[in-house]
Amino acid sequence: MPRLGDATRGRILFGGDYNPEQWPEETWHEDVRLMKAAGVNSVTLGVFSWAKLEPRPGAREFGWLDRLMDLMHAGGIGVVLATPTSAPPPWMGRLHPETLPRDEDGRTEWWGGRQHFSHSSATYRRYAAAITEDLAARYGSHPALTLWHINNEYCTYDWGDEAAAAFRRWLQDKYGTVDALNEAWGTAFWSQGYDGWHEILPPRHAHYMKNPTQVLDFKRFTSDMLLECYLAERDIVRRHTPHIPVTTNFMPMWAGQDAWRWAAEEDVVSVDLYPDPRDPFGAQSGALVQDMTRSQAGHGPWMLMEQAAGAVNWRGVNHPKPSGLNRLWSLQAVARGADGVCYFQWRQSRQGAEKFHSGMVSHAGEEGRTYREVKRLGAELARIGSEVTDSHVSADIALLHDWNSWWAGSQEGRPSSEVDYPAVVGAWHRAFWEAHLTTAFAHPEHDLSAYRLVVVPQLYLLTDTAIDNLLAYVHGGGTLVCGFLTGVADEDDRIRPGGMDARLRDLFGIRTLHEWWPLDAGEGVECDGFRGLLWSEEIEAQDADEVIAYQGGELDGLPAVLRKGRAWYVSTLPEPKALRDLLAGIASGAGARPVLDGLPAGVEAVRRGDLLFVLNHGREPVTIAVPGTHHDLLTGATVTNDVVLGRYGVAVLRP
Ligand code: GAL
Repeated sequence: MPRLGDATRGRILFGGDYNPEQWPEETWHEDVRLMKAAGVNSVTLGVFSWAKLEPRPGAREFGWLDRLMDLMHAGGIGVVLATPTSAPPPWMGRLHPETLPRDEDGRTEWWGGRQHFSHSSATYRRYAAAITEDLAARYGSHPALTLWHINNEYCTYDWGDEAAAAFRRWLQDKYGTVDALNEAWGTAFWSQGYDGWHEILPPRHAHYMKNPTQVLDFKRFTSDMLLECYLAERDIVRRHTPHIPVTTNFMPMWAGQDAWRWAAEEDVVSVDLYPDPRDPFGAQSGALVQDMTRSQAGHGPWMLMEQAAGAVNWRGVNHPKPSGLNRLWSLQAVARGADGVCYFQWRQSRQGAEKFHSGMVSHAGEEGRTYREVKRLGAELARIGSEVTDSHVSADIALLHDWNSWWAGSQEGRPSSEVDYPAVVGAWHRAFWEAHLTTAFAHPEHDLSAYRLVVVPQLYLLTDTAIDNLLAYVHGGGTLVCGFLTGVADEDDRIRPGGMDARLRDLFGIRTLHEWWPLDAGEGVECDGFRGLLWSEEIEAQDADEVIAYQGGELDGLPAVLRKGRAWYVSTLPEPKALRDLLAGIASGAGARPVLDGLPAGVEAVRRGDLLFVLNHGREPVTIAVPGTHHDLLTGATVTNDVVLGRYGVAVLRP
């Protein structure tokens, strides 16, 4: 497998999407000067260049890109070369309207924006393969080429006719017979029984709620179709350049791709991350995505492909990053394992839909605060690069996450639309983050034996294999904590007998799950010692060893939390402090320790290899006890027993 490290030679990739086609050539030279001054060693070229490269069908205009590749190389800047296939040129939609996706109401997604391609269109795929082939042939041996970047944030859906035909083929492969599909989809309900494949459609606009398994399969199909598009391009570039690694950038915690499956097909896993600078949980939500991406990469590299140096322009109100925050969040990604810290984009645009989105060089230019801070960060990353790349972050705790469960659990017609899966996962991750415990993510069918503690914030759908895996983990000595509404459905979204899988009920000491009692927004339910939010359950215990009970109301005296041996079940969402205390206590019992003892709130500590990263997410200076003598790689100072961190301060300590 090609390695990122071979191309980066121990440097952290630092740079961003570079869209020079938006600028006159004089600016390119100015860009190189500013890039070099800022320590930029990597730019991503070509992400949205299809119309420039192929202005009419089959034409090739490579001259400008030749000059840029050479210019970058001469400046010592590596190129992450993108295939431009996420934004087809206007001629494609005009000549081949079947390449344009349709939404569920049958409306066409026209050109004039981006990502207006149908993943199922043979014509689109043919053009995408051709431009990829020619790019790979032309630049495969260019010395600036560091990494292939396939497409950009694959995220399109299509309910159109060519997608419908592809959906039928996908279903035939999966089910073999229409009878098997009817059984899996439960089409006996509402007279939906299919008499032949030709009757089956993607879940288009319907009068009332759609068949949930049809919707679930459509989400699986969409992820698979996009993956096919990725693999087709990946295989082309690999054929030309087996030594150059390949990636495609994920959106963070995005519902459209089963990123576990995708990540297995990448040499470098990359993600785009844009926490809101005003979000009080921005640092933790960033940490969650970083933990997720690192876990998807397994022992391989991951990188932050895009972040904003300042404001984005797609929220209602778009706040800039206060001084120091860009540096802090960039070093947080490095602490959590990133081998690249890059941006959308290098130079802020003056035209187009994203002209109010920040760049590393803002409209204020080289005098602007944004560029000055970028420059400082570039110098610091250069200083620590060789010490961190190729070193790993290890975690004793795994949170389990699965896209299939997310998809199935977010259907219409469920007990509570207040339950938002990413928010539930976020609440559990936040509990560990605030307790200074490092977490990984894992798929419920992964080998879990390396973890001291496994937690399931919520997996509404669990396959039999996953359930067996959880049982084996606990029987093998592991500690398991499961949140509410877990183990309810099988892989076809069929409710398991008893409303929760019998093996899991037995594991937790539950005799009967009588009813779910979802709570309204803002409503709470009293439990012995804390308030539960969002959800509660009417459970009868059988042989649980320990119970924390609901107090008052309909569920008075019934278990809110049960433990049998090393298996815990939490049937509500404890309010944040209670969840943190509960999980920190269980983690401690399982032998998982915080990175440092006695850390104050808002200070994050992470170990990467031998290095200890300490990050102050607060605006007030803090003094942190770090027993022993260390060398701070950022300042060069020797640190003995404690380190002082100013507002948004960071120390990278080597023993
Ligand atoms: C990403 C995308 C970039 C840019 C950026 C703005 O989703 O990949 O091209 O649009 O968002 O935040």
